[in-house]
Amino acid sequence: AIEKTFLMVKPDGVERQVIGDIVDRFERRGFVMRGAKLMVPTRDLAEKHYAEHAERPFFGELVDFITSGPVFGMVWEGENVIQLSRIMMGATKPEESAPGTIRGDYAVTLSHNVIHGSDSLASAEREIGLWFPEGIAE
Ligand code: CMP
Repeated sequence: AIEKTFLMVKPDGVERQVIGDIVDRFERRGFVMRGAKLMVPTRDLAEKHYAEHAERPFFGELVDFITSGPVFGMVWEGENVIQLSRIMMGATKPEESAPGTIRGDYAVTLSHNVIHGSDSLASAEREIGLWFPEGIAE
């Protein structure tokens, strides 16, 4: 099915100037960008985004990191984009992210892993609403 997902270049990816490469990968695959913004997330937004990790010991660090500088939040649309974009991102653990994937090409640590992508239809809808409350172009 045609879906929308929320993808975000994290502060480490913005600092390393890989937004262009990441956008290019999704464009080449045939997905369409429907929304994008460069912003420093507020703590409130970051805590809501990562609410499912609120009880984890690394939650504070995670929120500190994601609010430490600009992130590039995007909405992408296409056939099966939620699952396919996660395959393109690669696994969270650096020892499991294959070369050729975004994390496999750029990331060597668990926390500074360049990109976030929604993991299900429910999280995609929730995250798009959270990051783009003003809505997106149709
Ligand atoms: P992501 O899957 O985008 O969302 C949750 C993030 O938590 C995950 O990426 C990692 O960057 C981060 N994370 C997971 N486990 C740890 C950990 N043990 N220490 C620090 N960060 C972590």
